Amino acid sequence: MAEKISEEIKKKMGKLVKELNYHNYRYYVLDSPVISDEEYDKLYRHLKELEDKYNYILPDSPTQRIGAPPLEKFEKVKHTEPMLSLDNAFSHDEVKEFDRRIKRLLDTEGEIEYTVEPKYDGLAIELTYRGGFLFRASTRGDGYEGEDVTQNIKTIKSVPLKIEGGSIPDEIDIRGEVYMDLDEFEKLNRQREKNGEPLFANPRNAAAGSVRQLDPSITISRKLYLACYGIGTVKGMNFRSQSELIKWLKESRFPTPAKVEIAKGINKVIDAIKEFEEKRGDFSFETDGAVVKVDDFGLQQKLGVKTREPRWAIAYKFQAHQGTTRIKEIHGSVGRTGVITPFAVFEPVRIGGVTVSRSTLHNWDEIERKDIRVGDTVVVERAGDVIPHVIMVIKEKRTGKEKKFPIPEKCPVCGSKVAREEGEVAVRCVSLHCPAQVQEKIIHFASRGGMDIEGLGEKNVELLYSRGLIKHFEDIYRLKKEDLLELPRFAEKSAQNLIEAIEKSKHAILAKFLFAIGIQHAGEYAAKLLAKNFKRLEDLYKVTPERIMSIKQMGEKIASSISAFFNDQKNIDVLNSMIKLGLKITNPDFISEKKGEMSLEGLTFVITGTLPKARNEVEDLIEANGGHASSAISASTSYLVVGEEPGSKLDKAKTLGVKTISYDELIKMIEKKTKNPGLFD
Ligand code: IVH
Repeated sequence: MAEKISEEIKKKMGKLVKELNYHNYRYYVLDSPVISDEEYDKLYRHLKELEDKYNYILPDSPTQRIGAPPLEKFEKVKHTEPMLSLDNAFSHDEVKEFDRRIKRLLDTEGEIEYTVEPKYDGLAIELTYRGGFLFRASTRGDGYEGEDVTQNIKTIKSVPLKIEGGSIPDEIDIRGEVYMDLDEFEKLNRQREKNGEPLFANPRNAAAGSVRQLDPSITISRKLYLACYGIGTVKGMNFRSQSELIKWLKESRFPTPAKVEIAKGINKVIDAIKEFEEKRGDFSFETDGAVVKVDDFGLQQKLGVKTREPRWAIAYKFQAHQGTTRIKEIHGSVGRTGVITPFAVFEPVRIGGVTVSRSTLHNWDEIERKDIRVGDTVVVERAGDVIPHVIMVIKEKRTGKEKKFPIPEKCPVCGSKVAREEGEVAVRCVSLHCPAQVQEKIIHFASRGGMDIEGLGEKNVELLYSRGLIKHFEDIYRLKKEDLLELPRFAEKSAQNLIEAIEKSKHAILAKFLFAIGIQHAGEYAAKLLAKNFKRLEDLYKVTPERIMSIKQMGEKIASSISAFFNDQKNIDVLNSMIKLGLKITNPDFISEKKGEMSLEGLTFVITGTLPKARNEVEDLIEANGGHASSAISASTSYLVVGEEPGSKLDKAKTLGVKTISYDELIKMIEKKTKNPGLFD
């Protein structure tokens, strides 16, 4: 049994309710709370205890926002004044035409005062207050009759349960829009996705779906907002204009549109509209236009209403950025780095004044996640100048004939096998020959970290590629000076330099070469690891992922990529033709089975005179066995290899105290210690 309540307690409860409602307003309408959540909760609990104890509840008590039981169905509500819709204007000219019409109808040449507000993309509702208290909330419905959603609307914290302030009408129908913030909308959709529930196509649907819930506990779990911008029937009070109404709404603690501009004359209106459109992205909510209203209610009255729209207002629609269309085809396009990106071809649809007939689908995970199929009807968005993308599939429109689009097994450009690593979103063409990638690959190949071909940078690669001089990777080694001289950017000297740089690069170190050919995931470090473990380039041909994985530090991802590369016959052909064109690869990094037994490890050699083998080859041999071949002699040189007719280096070696050996002695040094006889086996 409830205790009998004293006047004093009633007063105390009244004060608590007032206080809580004020803090509620600070928090939800002004977005500037003055107490902490804990303090609020404490006050709230105190009130709730008193309510339970005395079984006395004030109609505007915040406890009345929650706890209503689910409904069987919504009751119908007739609006005492119809809730109208708005005429649209799609251009500034149409807005100007709207102004001319108004002037004609009012038979005036004077400038009209307008208000400009954002058009909220939500659900229109009417709040009926009687004696200052929220009596009922209803949806717009068909404009004449809506549904009673009072229990749900009460859960929206920014909706005043009581009108505060100095002037309170006996009865008033306040109209506004319930909406969901964009952040909240995305959060909700992410959650729904996790739960396997269908996604909302846009914030408007999310807001409408949340309000039209028979169970208010669902509505309360959705963060909804309200913006009040109009009135229906009013008794016991008079408003002279829209701007006066907005002022009163604010004073009475109603949330109003984020911005209300007062503009005298249509040019000012256009300025305001432009600003709204520019700042559109700054709003936390979705807005698809600006609503222009004749400010003066007397003039509004004179202008009257057409069938369903007032003559005194117009909605200027921003460039629409969503449209619905059907996916005709899905294809993959190959980027320069070999990534294959799926894209959709649509039945052309006009979005924001532009015909959209294709859009990227980003990646294959995205296709799967959104379950996009060929033949699907989809919502496509084009925000500002951003490229269009598919927001969602309208699954209700499926006929059963839609086809899934599998991840391609072959590159759509060159037909080579594609690779997709575990846990990677990207699907790649790993072919060296793929035209889509050739330029980028060549630039990398020639770069300093790679083959270091001076003069073969981005610009020249583009030029050579566009002239058809390098179509494939190995074409670098086919370039002739005469070819270069035909090009605008080359003169005798520069052509000669480039050819020489290319020649020089033909003597390559395996680690550098492996990095230069740009195998996906194989950076400098991985290339070095490979070189340490595989003596010759050819040893990598047809390598299995398992073999790569047997190398410490090599993971699954990189192993599959390396293996895919060396199992692609086209790649092998490219490598072989490079070798045929004169590429010579040595591998000083190779560590023979008996680790640490590289015969020439840590030694530096300089050659002088004529040896039985070409100097290059001997240098390669030295490097292949762990030594370092240098052209300049110094005190740190370990050995001078002396051939016939030695030069001045021999004298220098003597003065520096550098040991001298013959070619035969060098070979003996190598054979003595290692089972890796180098290049001459
Ligand atoms: S005024 C008769 N002001 O747009 C005037 N409406 O397309 C009608 N809307 O049903 C209401 N923001 O749901 C007005 N600032 C705003 C609005 C707004 C959104 C909605 C409203 C209306 C619809 C008409």
